[in-house]
Amino acid sequence: MAREAYPSVHGAPEAAPIDFERLVRDESTSIIVCCGSGGVGKTTIAAALGVRAAEAGRKVVVLTIDPARRLAQSLGLSELDNTPRPVVGIDTSSGGSLDAMMLDMKRTFDEVVLNHSTPEKAEQILANPFYQALSSSFAGTQEYMAMEKLSQLSEEAAENGRWDLIVVDTPPSRSALDFLDAPKRLGSFLDGRFIRLLMAPAKAGGRAYLKVLSGGITMATSVMTRLLGGQMLQDVQTFVAALDTMFGGFRQRAEKTYALLGDRRTAFLVVAAPERDALREASYFVQRLDQEQMPLAGVIVNRVQRLAAASLTSARADAAAEVLGEEGVDGTGSQTAALTEGLLRVHADLAQTAERHHAHVHRFVAGHPGIPVTEVPAAAQDIHDLEGLREIGAALSSAG
Ligand SMILES: Nc1ncnc2c1ncn2[C@@H]1O[C@H](COP(=O)(O)OP(=O)(O)O)[C@@H](O)[C@H]1O
Ligand SMILES: [Mg+2]
Repeated sequence: MAREAYPSVHGAPEAAPIDFERLVRDESTSIIVCCGSGGVGKTTIAAALGVRAAEAGRKVVVLTIDPARRLAQSLGLSELDNTPRPVVGIDTSSGGSLDAMMLDMKRTFDEVVLNHSTPEKAEQILANPFYQALSSSFAGTQEYMAMEKLSQLSEEAAENGRWDLIVVDTPPSRSALDFLDAPKRLGSFLDGRFIRLLMAPAKAGGRAYLKVLSGGITMATSVMTRLLGGQMLQDVQTFVAALDTMFGGFRQRAEKTYALLGDRRTAFLVVAAPERDALREASYFVQRLDQEQMPLAGVIVNRVQRLAAASLTSARADAAAEVLGEEGVDGTGSQTAALTEGLLRVHADLAQTAERHHAHVHRFVAGHPGIPVTEVPAAAQDIHDLEGLREIGAALSSAG
């Protein structure tokens, strides 16, 4: 991995870009994880990398989380059956293929239960209202289930060779910690500590368990209300008793997934927007990945404003527009001058955004020497079809 920062012609720090062609083509990369805060383009980048890799000859599966509707449609993700389906319209002439799927959190949790217990026990658990609430609203469930799915896909890939690259999108976590902590959290949750907490007040017969529940589980109010009937205690007990036998399996699995994330064959990409808050979160993410010794390939700054006339600064465009505007007031200006003034003002606005983006990226790069950074230009429109994804893929590969 190119990690050397080198000075640019202006003497300012400049990051080496991420070597995407290598990342995507190199057989020794088998998992790419796109992470970052919500709305920065994780799903888009994951899908774009999937298309790029597949058309370069890799056998790829992309796991997406809540893709925008139109993008989901063009990836053929209208069927919500929690398994990968081939994407239509991929150029397979290099021998590659692309499958895509959308994570169904609840169904993934159900699969875990089914795989780790007898059919009777599983039925008991799945029917339990407490489980039903837990599987759809335990804080971190989505994060954990994304990782669980990754683990399943990875096992399937190893078994039948259907895929040699898994690209994973991650949930729009409020906190970066949620995502990284998910396997560990579920590990310790299933460790029995949480379960003991649940059981203790039940034994005492008090109402204390309500406090434990509200502290430990983020639950929709309506679900809470529905569950607070007399049925509650029994549900919890049944659930815990049934789950008890599955602890070993669950925990081991969470640990295995964590190890998979830290493997050399995995590459993490932190996606960010060229704004202060998003880059601050990216910093935090980079730090956390480092702490956990997760393999970071680099940071993608997505939707960076680019200009057609890059040498015309916002200040100069504004000044020129000013001059033309004054001529207009004098009555000496023409229609062309008015039009030019308008265009200059538009340019000045865009240039200001571009300058701001550049300043933020610059500061980020200076603060993270040695971390590869790749910028992706903002497209004029949302990315909602294969063509758009190909353009993003090309931008990633040509950046630098
Ligand atoms: N480089 C880009 N240029 C223009 N629009 C983009 C770009 N990257 C992402 N988008 C758009 O931004 C929106 C959010 O992207 P998405 O990938 O869903 O973000 P996330 O998965 O991080 O929440 C989508 O509408 C997507 O089409
Ligand atoms: Mg998304």
